[in-house]
Amino acid sequence: MEKLQKGADLITDPRESDYRPGEVLMTEGEIAEMVSALGRRISEDYEGRDPVLVNLLKGGVIFLADLTRRLPIPHQLDFMRVSSYENGTKSSGIVRIAEDLATNISGRHTIVVEDVLDSGRTLAYILDILKLRSPASIEVCALLRKKVPQNTSIRVRYLGKEIPDVFVVGYGLDYNERFRNLPFVAKLVMPGD
Ligand code: IMP
Ligand code: MG
Repeated sequence: MEKLQKGADLITDPRESDYRPGEVLMTEGEIAEMVSALGRRISEDYEGRDPVLVNLLKGGVIFLADLTRRLPIPHQLDFMRVSSYENGTKSSGIVRIAEDLATNISGRHTIVVEDVLDSGRTLAYILDILKLRSPASIEVCALLRKKVPQNTSIRVRYLGKEIPDVFVVGYGLDYNERFRNLPFVAKLVMPGD
């Protein structure tokens, strides 16, 4: 309850005050444990392979910041900024690369680090583009995957948690750029909920 209150306190625009974090789906402690476990698995699998972690900004950045500190093996970080959501909570279906990688991933073991797979359209598109650059291998590490019937069948080798088909905020995930700073993942409560 105290944590939810903190989230609500971040709202300064009264017009947005009906949108707030509700039920917590992953606590700070659960996230920390999950990230450690993923870090252990990735470190074992990529020992001696110097992987490039490709992060999708901005939602995945907090996850990446924690994950990199749980990877004792040498690895590199790089970033791509894509947008699939114009505004609000509905997928536009349009994926745009706003900023590309600085690294040449040809011949490199590549891991795409993503915050959440919803329809999976964004990731499917990114994977297609990255595969054309001939990486030595390419895998996906996602914090969350929603159980949605219509989602694409992307293989997520490293998955944090499967969640119901609800809009979530916190730990990097935003609603109109808000709530990324919450240290937990919560359902977004919308007006009329
Ligand atoms: P997809 O293409 O439908 O899989 O949408 C993927 C992207 O939409 C994610 O990388 C997020 O940036 C955003 N997104 C999808 N669901 C949520 C959510 O519940 N909260 C915040 N952002 C979301
Ligand atoms: Mg994202």
